[in-house]
Amino acid sequence: MLENPFILEPFKSKKYFCDREKESEEIIRNITNGRNTTLISPRRLGKTGLIFRVFEEIKERQLPYETIYADISDTLSLEEFIKALSDAVVSKLKKQHRISAFFKSLKSVRPLLGLDPMTGSPQVSFSFADENQQQNTLKDVLGYLESYPQMIVFAIDEFQQIREYEGINMEAILRKHIQHLHNVRFIYCGSKKHTMTDMFTNAKKPFYESTSFCYLTKLPVKVYGAFIREKFESAGKSIDDDSLDYILEWTKVHTYYTQRLCNEVFSLSDSKVDRDIVLKAIQTILDGERERFREIRRLITRAQWKMLSAIAKEDSVLQITSSAFLSKYGITSGPTALRNIKALIEKELVLATTEEDRTSYSVYNVFLSRYLAMEQY
Ligand SMILES: Nc1ncnc2c1ncn2[C@@H]1O[C@H](COP(=O)(O)OP(=O)(O)OP(=O)(O)O)[C@@H](O)[C@H]1O
Ligand SMILES: [Mg+2]
Repeated sequence: MLENPFILEPFKSKKYFCDREKESEEIIRNITNGRNTTLISPRRLGKTGLIFRVFEEIKERQLPYETIYADISDTLSLEEFIKALSDAVVSKLKKQHRISAFFKSLKSVRPLLGLDPMTGSPQVSFSFADENQQQNTLKDVLGYLESYPQMIVFAIDEFQQIREYEGINMEAILRKHIQHLHNVRFIYCGSKKHTMTDMFTNAKKPFYESTSFCYLTKLPVKVYGAFIREKFESAGKSIDDDSLDYILEWTKVHTYYTQRLCNEVFSLSDSKVDRDIVLKAIQTILDGERERFREIRRLITRAQWKMLSAIAKEDSVLQITSSAFLSKYGITSGPTALRNIKALIEKELVLATTEEDRTSYSVYNVFLSRYLAMEQY
């Protein structure tokens, strides 16, 4: 069995990861110069992958940092935040005596160690009496990192999530403790550009001007094309220019969708990739996604679906309230269009991209966009 070189997880090794040389260099430079990084991009473009790419680079170059990764996307409170950070620390420490030292440093609670029955990864559980105890524990967790014998790079993925915690100003709490740390470099990662930018560039917010920004954009077409060709060829499969161009055009060079399509093309092909195989792969993917698209359709209003479909058919729309656009798709009025676009952005079904004061709208999920564009009016 030939291994499929188009991976669908964020990172496996440098061999399966295309480019991002400049970005990983930039983040490493931030780290070695004592700066924290804010890493932002739309969903599924490769932020998490890049974090692990940077971690691997640190290891390869034997830079003197311990690397820790925490994903806080499922957290809804300070308590869950502390747990996510502690789980990340513990899964890094591995050795029992180090875990004991970590637990000992948490002076105001008695944490328990268990194993996730599904994944087998270590899990820390706490029972807090009140918020005060939680705040003290957060301080202790960060204090432990500060006293760690090696410098630490701590990546917090989906950082924007802290704005969802009810009843507390998590930004203020976190900033208060973090600003005193010298032993830890943070990478704050997130996909909600508006929220992330507000956190780090709004003078009234606690994290104002505390980091360097790294905006991840799409991979350059030529570089990604060469990567894809090389992966096919080193597996003994040839791919013609037409098929390669077609893949990248169809996926709009959005990383996840490109990987997914290439993965399918690879699995369907023998020694030669041509346009027919690419079309078959597209059909297979869309067939597989159809039920999910129906589910989305059930979850939004008819008018929102109509709007989504209109945007898909246009590929991207600059003037959402222009009479040309509204009348072409039978959308009743500008205010209706604005209301629906707002709802679609909140549901992450539409991506708003602002460049030089001009905002354009596109369907976030490239597969859904292609599916809708093919539907009849
Ligand atoms: N440089 C790359 N080379 C090859 N594949 C990549 C690269 N970057 C990302 N990918 C692929 O794209 C997918 C999405 O990447 P990743 O999960 O890192 O994105 P993300 O920006 O963190 O997304 P989200 O905001 O949804 O968390 C990965 O599963 C991986 O298959
Ligand atoms: Mg991610």
